[in-house]
Amino acid sequence: MKALVLAGGRGTRLRPLTHTSAKQLVPVANKPVLYYGLEAIGDAGITSVGIITGDTGHEIRQAVGDGSQFGLEVTYIPQEAPLGLAHCVLIARDFLGDEPFVMYLGDNFLVDGITGLVRSFEQGGFDAQILLTKVAEPQFYGVAELGPAGEILRLEEKPEFPNSDLAIVGVYTFSPAVHEAVRAIRPSARGELEITDAIQWLIDNDFRVYSHMVCGYWKDTGRLRDILECNRIVLEGITPDVAGTVDRMSEMTGRIIVEPGAVVENSVLRGPIVVGADAKITSSYVGPFTSIGRGCVLQNAEIEYSIVLDGSRVDGVSRIAHSLIGRNVEVSRATGVSNTHELMVGDHSKIQVRA
Ligand code: DAU
Repeated sequence: MKALVLAGGRGTRLRPLTHTSAKQLVPVANKPVLYYGLEAIGDAGITSVGIITGDTGHEIRQAVGDGSQFGLEVTYIPQEAPLGLAHCVLIARDFLGDEPFVMYLGDNFLVDGITGLVRSFEQGGFDAQILLTKVAEPQFYGVAELGPAGEILRLEEKPEFPNSDLAIVGVYTFSPAVHEAVRAIRPSARGELEITDAIQWLIDNDFRVYSHMVCGYWKDTGRLRDILECNRIVLEGITPDVAGTVDRMSEMTGRIIVEPGAVVENSVLRGPIVVGADAKITSSYVGPFTSIGRGCVLQNAEIEYSIVLDGSRVDGVSRIAHSLIGRNVEVSRATGVSNTHELMVGDHSKIQVRA
């Protein structure tokens, strides 16, 4: 069994972060979301992994290398443009050969891993196996309509008026029959070769397609609130470890990781949180469900339920919440007499100030 990991695409929903970096590398508890997927693949006993890359291919290669840090052998498969999930299968034909494989969307996050899915596929003799889960807003996902016996009646990609609340999770397993399907389908209205259409083709042509429900937690991390929620879930399970320095004036409660080289002075840390290596936190409050990246500086600041990426600085601002702050960003208190907000904000940013 092989794995095909999709790490190309556009990432429009996480702009402006994804203007310059891959959405699959946005950190959850200070670890790129893609790493969780690669670890799950390794845990399922798969070693041969193809990674589809797009414009951010250089960054993905830098982060994953030859895959040996995950016990994997990685082959990179560049995609000329994000032409769809089924297009990824099309261009991976040589890599995949005639082996069954698991296809993993690089921005998806499954708390329970994929070992159960892979085992049931190996035992079941299916041509495709999909995972479904109930969601509040099915119109943003591939949606499955099931019959009375749980059989799949119809799959539809992001329908305007969904017939069910069952979303297709971004982890699929396929037999080589899928290669015929991805060759047979045509691009959708949005111009992509949809994997949803390829699976529907398998159903229409009497191949064995099986679905089962995800019991554990799943998120597509493509949107801000989902990535913050994912961060919360992972932080809830961390093992406390204070390797950096926390002075006696500081107060710590709950699960806390302070990575090596980080310095915390005169501050309140309320777990679960992670403070990245070489960060400096002074006279600040870091509240629950917050990840502070490497080399960040927080001074007279208050922040909770947020992710701050490496090298950023928050100075004299309180209280930040429900926020994702990119790399090398500076957030500080305005000086001078005028009661104004002074901003230099990148394209497609979103700022909500309490005026
Ligand atoms: O997350 C689950 C959903 O994923 C499913 O419910 C949908 O049926 C499925 O189409 C997919 O929808 P998204 O709109 O979320 O897909 P997205 O464009 O975000 O792409 C998913 C991953 O695949 C992401 O890591 C980028 C990568 N990708 C995407 C495309 C379109 C590629 O590598 N190449 C591509 O051409």
